[in-house]
Amino acid sequence: MPISRRSLMQSTLAAGAAAAVPSLAQAQAAPASGAASKPKNDKPGLAVIGAGGIARWHGQYLPKHFNVVAVADVDRARAESYSKDIAGGKAFTTQDYRQVLDRKDVDMVLIASPDHWHAKTAIDAMRAGKDVYCEKPLTLTVDEGRIVCQVARETARVVQVGTQQRSDDFFPTAVALAQTRLGKIKTVTVVIGPTPAKEGEEFAPSTPPPELNWDMWLGQAPQVEYTPKRCHFDFRWWYEYAGGMMTDWGAHHVDIAQWAAAPDEAGPITVEPLSVKFPVPFDEHGNPTVHNKFNTAREYKVRCTFANGVEMFLVDKSPKAPEENGILFEGDKGTLYVNRTKITGSAAESIKTNPLPKGLVLPVAPVPIPHERHVIDFLECTRTRALPKSDVWSHHRNLVTCHLANIALRLNRKLRWDATAYEVIGDPEATAMLKRPQRKGYEVV
Ligand SMILES: NC(=O)c1ccc[n+]([C@@H]2O[C@H](COP(=O)([O-])OP(=O)(O)OC[C@H]3O[C@@H](n4cnc5c(N)ncnc54)[C@H](O)[C@@H]3O)[C@@H](O)[C@H]2O)c1
Repeated sequence: MPISRRSLMQSTLAAGAAAAVPSLAQAQAAPASGAASKPKNDKPGLAVIGAGGIARWHGQYLPKHFNVVAVADVDRARAESYSKDIAGGKAFTTQDYRQVLDRKDVDMVLIASPDHWHAKTAIDAMRAGKDVYCEKPLTLTVDEGRIVCQVARETARVVQVGTQQRSDDFFPTAVALAQTRLGKIKTVTVVIGPTPAKEGEEFAPSTPPPELNWDMWLGQAPQVEYTPKRCHFDFRWWYEYAGGMMTDWGAHHVDIAQWAAAPDEAGPITVEPLSVKFPVPFDEHGNPTVHNKFNTAREYKVRCTFANGVEMFLVDKSPKAPEENGILFEGDKGTLYVNRTKITGSAAESIKTNPLPKGLVLPVAPVPIPHERHVIDFLECTRTRALPKSDVWSHHRNLVTCHLANIALRLNRKLRWDATAYEVIGDPEATAMLKRPQRKGYEVV
């Protein structure tokens, strides 16, 4: 029988949930220092950068906690309608996010642009003295993650990544159960889901709508003609702007999997593609050979090995997992499966008669939506200067796995990772893919 959300909450409350199970990265990373910017009862000024789908979702509770004073979106219509709907039309709007970073009434920013803009915007915001809530995945490449971590450390800004599963009811409990009730974890199967984008004809380019600054939307990515299917929402299915499901949902699930089973700074030792199906053919250098079609992997299976002996499979689907999307842990003393709606397996059953001891799971804000809890955690950390639940260091470490998996799939060969030298051992071509050329004027640093 799955554990229900209610029984889990009761069990967690009974256990008097108080402290955290920090990852090694969390434990080792020094909390950011710096003064809280406002007294507790004053709402801080927030700028939203990227006013699309997820920003709208956040918008339902943002005004409770912040004064939304500015909205930047390269699509002017989106910035204006967001200001109207979320801030009563009072927020300053612009197509150029740098204008919101210059504003004194902006204490912090929520970045909800497409993936290829996250690192640059976050870096610019930190350097402008703003605390940052940035949607996942924080980066487009491994190298961007290295730089974001460096700037976070230099500027001592609070940075929360939008992996709100860390503020969910189920996942932190699953991490505590996996770490304490499975014995030695042997295998983790991370079922990320298939890319839903369908195969088909190449998309036809068209003229960008007048409200959209297409050049700025493209940012660091190569200059191409406007194609609606490259833009809002569907950018996910192009390696130019994102990483497909591997970084879209992988940013969430690999985060939980590694937190529970491989909380080691070094990351994976090997990353090996076992099977892959792309919507277009790829050349031997890992580049799609068809220009204007979705190109991220639709079906995939990647095996990652870690120094502690854990084998982690990143897959679009698995006969072993009862749902399309979730994480299965198999240890020598039991199993555990978790997704956004349930926890099952022997370790989960044990909680009914043997609640987790006090202090193993972080408390969350008493509101139902995990995203809002995560935002509240960020807000609290901007006041206390503590490390938020989804800190940049652990997130970067988990994304290294996702980015390496995509490189391995694209090159169709096994990679051996050296986390100290920051290189793919004996493979200069794969190492070169840890970063990518950035268009002039939009360089990340
Ligand atoms: N945490 C979650 O559960 C969750 C859920 C959905 C999306 N996301 C993440 O949020 C991000 C946005 O996804 P979405 O579905 O909302 O996409 P979207 O396309 O609906 O919205 C992105 C918006 O950013 C704007 N934009 C692009 N470049 C910009 C720039 N330089 N400055 C300002 N605005 C810019 C676009 O015009 C668009 O309005 C993605 O990285 C995605 O992975 C997270």
